Amino acid sequence: MKKVLSVWILSGLLSGFSPANMSAKALSGQEIFSRSCSVCHSMAPPPKAAPPIIPLAGRYHLKFQTKKEGVNHIIAYLKSPNKDNAIDPQAITRFGLMPALTLPDAELRSVAEWVWDQYNPNMGMGRSAGRNQ
Ligand code: HEC
Repeated sequence: MKKVLSVWILSGLLSGFSPANMSAKALSGQEIFSRSCSVCHSMAPPPKAAPPIIPLAGRYHLKFQTKKEGVNHIIAYLKSPNKDNAIDPQAITRFGLMPALTLPDAELRSVAEWVWDQYNPNMGMGRSAGRNQ
């Protein structure tokens, strides 16, 4: 499973890359999450200052049929969060609006793909599975 995920992430990185964005070593989606998102987002409940990632990925899988659509929506949201394109407007009421993130496009793409891949069909909303991340 881990292997399959990293192949996904790698192919996403390769296709989304332009030399200008290339740093000495590309970070994986998970590394970008740890650096840029985990201050607000936990993986599973309880939440920190934002909805936890695993239930969030579940919402995305309910709303979008394909990974491409879901990932494009996540990228658009990270660049410009607003009430009109939020998949869960109640989260804004609860946590406030997420600040826009200024990451290179390649990083936005790999972290968005990583978020999409955190969907766990065996996990009910709010259960403790997935905390071992
Ligand atoms: C400063 C805190 C903060 C940081 C940092 C942050 N987020 Fe968020 N995020 C929020 C809050 C608050 C919400 C819920 C309100 C909203 O949707 O705007 C949210 C919502 C989201 C959503 C749901 C969007 C939707 O369609 O409704 C996604 C996906 C997301 N964050 C991903 C990320 C990723 C990926 C990163 C890192 C690259 C990140 N966030 C960094 C606070 C943060």
